[in-house]
Amino acid sequence: MKKIGIVGAGTMGSGIAQVAAQHGHEVYLFDTKEAALEKAKASLAKIMARLVEKGKISEEQSKATQSRIKRGSDYVQFNNCGLVIEAIVENLEVKKSVFNSLENVVSNDCVLASNTSSLSIASIAGSCSHPERVVGIHFFNPAPLMPLVEIVPAVQTSDSVLKNAQTIIDSWKKVTVIAKDTPGFIVNRVARPFYGEAIRIYEEGIADMATIDWAMKEIGGFRMGPFELMDYIGNDINYTVTETVWKAFYYDPRYKPSFTQKRMMEAGYLGRKTGRGYYNYSEGATNPEPDKNEVVGEAIVWRILIMLINEAADALHLNIASAKDIDLAMTKGVNYPKGLLAWADEKGIQNVLDGLDKLYVAYHEERYRASVLLRQKAAYSKRFFE
Ligand SMILES: NC(=O)c1ccc[n+]([C@@H]2O[C@H](COP(=O)([O-])OP(=O)(O)OC[C@H]3O[C@@H](n4cnc5c(N)ncnc54)[C@H](O)[C@@H]3O)[C@@H](O)[C@H]2O)c1
Repeated sequence: MKKIGIVGAGTMGSGIAQVAAQHGHEVYLFDTKEAALEKAKASLAKIMARLVEKGKISEEQSKATQSRIKRGSDYVQFNNCGLVIEAIVENLEVKKSVFNSLENVVSNDCVLASNTSSLSIASIAGSCSHPERVVGIHFFNPAPLMPLVEIVPAVQTSDSVLKNAQTIIDSWKKVTVIAKDTPGFIVNRVARPFYGEAIRIYEEGIADMATIDWAMKEIGGFRMGPFELMDYIGNDINYTVTETVWKAFYYDPRYKPSFTQKRMMEAGYLGRKTGRGYYNYSEGATNPEPDKNEVVGEAIVWRILIMLINEAADALHLNIASAKDIDLAMTKGVNYPKGLLAWADEKGIQNVLDGLDKLYVAYHEERYRASVLLRQKAAYSKRFFE
């Protein structure tokens, strides 16, 4: 079993290191900051203690996992790794310099991966002398708990590197999907309307946040409402992802960010982490109650759902991933109650298309243009899954 290297001992790096160590790998966890390494060590000890307490793992397993992770700031330690996953700050220039440093020490057959959420894998690979060994391996937060991992080959990535990367991550009992190297990959692209359309409905005064959250949970079956989820993710992070995806798609109006969320970010109303977001999380605070009007609720869910289905259909149309992988990504990466394409089949593709066309006619906005794939499927009475 090969040694795994991780660069960056922050939220993602320390989580990925835990997953690799729990699956028996020796791990070298690298960070330039001693404090980050110390924090990663302490937090792993805490997580392991909790798992032992709950009876999920034995004391021996806990000790073995912890002892498999070595930490430091010395690149030479990556020399005998089979795979190195980079999970440092989201900055292309810094990432490129890390990949160059890695290439100086790793063996010829070592796979180099980036956990980037928004940068192109091709641009990282392009800075390497062996770009064919570079691939995206995109975990979700928290890495030990979220089953999905998007595997993203760059145009330069060799087939064997892609296969190797997927085989290793599959062996860590993750659900892997292959995504094209395009902004947001699968999940961060397809999920945009969950937030954007919810905010739009709120901005138009159709319903307040509590009502939209209630509808999406109680009627839609989603685990969290969009506003609760944005508060959980952090309005700064969620806004930045939206803005990045929008810019990366050459300002396609479908992904346009909202002033509502921008103002939340500017005000420091970041969500749970600052005690205030769309909701107030301070002790004794009262938050608005939803207006549990079923008719309004159904309309809210339908509008957000058809926008999500439209994104999923367009991602399929543009070969971002297979229909199966798009549905898996949304159920395993962000806990959607159903895959969006299967949901479209269930609701009737013609109905989804009619809903989108109605919005398009009403608003005359590109945001509501239906994917041509929906139109084709509807015209031939086809389904996504026969
Ligand atoms: N946080 C998430 O929800 C999430 C989810 C999926 C992917 N990602 C991606 O994972 C990567 C890391 O995100 P994070 O949230 O773990 O960040 P983080 O800020 O928690 O951790 C980044 C770590 O990298 C270290 N670092 C910075 N520059 C370095 C360098 N040159 N060499 C070595 N270490 C360096 C920092 O000291 C820090 O410990 C980013 O590319 C991000 O886009 C994040």
